[in-house]
Amino acid sequence: MLLDNHGRPVNYLRLAVTDRCNLRCFYCMPEEGIQYLPKKALLTYEEMERTVRVMAGLGVNKVRITGGEPFVRNGLLGFLRRLSEIPGIDALHLTTNGVLTAPHVAELKALGVRSVNLSLDTLDRDRFRHITRRDELPRVLDTLHALLGAGIEVKINMVVMEGKNTQDIGPMAELTRHHPVSVRFIEEMPFNGEGARLEGFTWHYRRILDELKAHYPGLYKLTDEPNATAYGYGVPGHAGTFGVIAAFSRSFCGTCNRIRLTAQGVLKTCLYDDGVLDLRQLLRGGSTDEALADAFRGAFRHRAKDGFEAEGRRSSHLPASESMSTIGG
Ligand code: 5AD
Ligand code: SF4
Repeated sequence: MLLDNHGRPVNYLRLAVTDRCNLRCFYCMPEEGIQYLPKKALLTYEEMERTVRVMAGLGVNKVRITGGEPFVRNGLLGFLRRLSEIPGIDALHLTTNGVLTAPHVAELKALGVRSVNLSLDTLDRDRFRHITRRDELPRVLDTLHALLGAGIEVKINMVVMEGKNTQDIGPMAELTRHHPVSVRFIEEMPFNGEGARLEGFTWHYRRILDELKAHYPGLYKLTDEPNATAYGYGVPGHAGTFGVIAAFSRSFCGTCNRIRLTAQGVLKTCLYDDGVLDLRQLLRGGSTDEALADAFRGAFRHRAKDGFEAEGRRSSHLPASESMSTIGG
């Protein structure tokens, strides 16, 4: 397994297959959407497959498909099948908003998709429509039930936002009482496609935790996996668990094993960097697999130690202006 310059293994690739999305979550995109990439700017499925093969040769064994919304790209399931056949890739995961996912759940199960992260910020239809600017809660809930019915591991990602959905922390947490889901509460990050700073950031992870403790006095700490981004918690008698993700406070960088590839083939070795390698150019410029592997090794030897260093190294010191739909979360 390849170690980076801070001694951290690099074994987890988050692969964005599109920058497009069928929702408009206000913390991710402006209402009118972002300027989407033209089709030829996106890596093809063949290019992505080749990339994953080369990375698998370097020790990457876990791939998470993200977007945008992965299911808005045609041919996704065929691509997943080909990825699942790559030697060395032993876990495929998927992050989705759940709008188009329910009809494909049986096939995801058949492909051996290990877990699905469902982005869901509220169980209230009006607030869902307000946050995502689309009235799609029923289809998302269909997906949740289909996943649970199929026995696929489900993690629900809820971004906690002042003035938008903090009243939903309790109801979302209650999902864990009877369902074997992990409900993860995420600090909001400044990636809304508009370059906005988070003026009113008050929902620090410790405050989220205090809120959970108020609901569940019996809340206890779970033992976290070595590379986990979430602090895990349980409640006696509940079928599921909680996670709290300090995405803005960046408390988890010390064990970060993740790299990201955007839909246009920009390699990021931190969520907060602005890209460290133009892979598309290498792929289309005729690089050999060995040259690609060398380029990856070079990038892994220069990783920022945490999200603050990565942010400081950005070529523009303006606030991040990307949309999470481009970065892939
Ligand atoms: N802050 C925190 N989380 C975000 N996500 C998207 N944008 C943001 C943001 N600005 C989350 C979504 C999704 C995951 C990939 O990233 O909820 O579950
Ligand atoms: Fe789409 Fe996810 Fe962004 Fe919402 S957060 S607009 S679901 S990519």
